[in-house]
Amino acid sequence: MPINDILRIISTKRDKSALTKDDIALFVKSVKDGVADDSQISALLMACFINGLNDEETLCLTQELANSGSKLSWKDFMSVDKHSTGGVGDKTTIALLPVLSTYRFVVPKMAGRRLSYTGGTIEKIELIPGYNTKLSMSDFVKQVEKIGIGLISQTEEIAPVEGVFYKIRNHTSTVESGQLILSSIASKKLAVGSNFIIFDIKSGAGSLFSDYNTSKEFADNICKVMRKFDKKVSYIISDMNQPLGRCVGNRLELWEALNFLHNRKPYSLDRLIYNIFANSYKAYHDSFDEDEISNIYANLFKGAKTVSKAIEWVKNQGGDPKYVENPDYLLDGLEKIEISATKSGYVHSMDVKKIGWLGHYLSDNFDGGIVFRVSIGDRIDKGDALAYIYGRKVDQLKGNDKLISYIDIKDLSCEKRELILESKIL
Ligand code: URA
Repeated sequence: MPINDILRIISTKRDKSALTKDDIALFVKSVKDGVADDSQISALLMACFINGLNDEETLCLTQELANSGSKLSWKDFMSVDKHSTGGVGDKTTIALLPVLSTYRFVVPKMAGRRLSYTGGTIEKIELIPGYNTKLSMSDFVKQVEKIGIGLISQTEEIAPVEGVFYKIRNHTSTVESGQLILSSIASKKLAVGSNFIIFDIKSGAGSLFSDYNTSKEFADNICKVMRKFDKKVSYIISDMNQPLGRCVGNRLELWEALNFLHNRKPYSLDRLIYNIFANSYKAYHDSFDEDEISNIYANLFKGAKTVSKAIEWVKNQGGDPKYVENPDYLLDGLEKIEISATKSGYVHSMDVKKIGWLGHYLSDNFDGGIVFRVSIGDRIDKGDALAYIYGRKVDQLKGNDKLISYIDIKDLSCEKRELILESKIL
């Protein structure tokens, strides 16, 4: 593609005009062929971020990104894919896949790395020694066909141009654009090819969508796009005004997710996973009642079936299963410091974004994270433990108690927050 075309496409969007289908196809191809350089990709992404994309452009971009690599198909399977728009403490994928797979769903999953302050699944699962997130496409397909489950990172083979965009958006402050998020997520879902897709759209201060209305608008838009490609879809809008579960930070989140398979705790994670399971069940069964689904779900955990499934999965991807059998091995060598309340009252709010960034910092520098003892609405007394900060080299962690300023405690009582704001199948 001649350089003039690249510049023309960038300036079209810079000058607030719409790109044609051909423009988008040309630009995506030029990224795939290595003709457009990072500065040009950044410029176009920033122009899209600032000036937006209309529905037609978003649809075209989604299709071109999906078509930039190979596409898988799971037509003969009860396949399910779940995607979260990203949150703090969101370890759902690792806990969810064995649950779905224990119930005969087939779950081919390509997950991302951290984006902005939100956590990434891949950094977490890679903490299991030996676990290989980079299976070749044919090994991935073989594994999923054989055992019903697989979790890999984004590869050069599936939606490769989306992978380039994802990295550059993360370095250019162009993450929080509804249309770029939509095309990023929808293109990967189309390329991975599951028949049923469920979106967990986070809503609140720790989400890319700050309130219910923007989350709902995004949910409607992404479902509309997926239905154009004949996909069965569902969405959940879930609250992200406090971290999901108790743990934030890669190692602790992995620990919490693997423990969930043993004990169905914490309750919030269980509710989210139950909803995803129930919607998947409804998508593949014409008749059902809620009690029946709830019993089937509870049964999946009996006799440690979900743990056995996770062991099979982790072993197949080269990981050491002892961490699934006993997640406490993940905490070996970690020390903790307590963060205590400096006054009595009720927890009113948490600065989730700052908590997310702190989780990254603790993960990167101390191989640690945070375990919360409180959530919004809890009553606490001065001196109670609000949270523990975990890490190696705990001496250097001392003084790192800015977490206290991220938890707002007031005298007046405060309601607990509902996690699931809406759950719908289309
Ligand atoms: N998750 C993605 O895969 N892409 C985004 O842009 C945001 C969340």
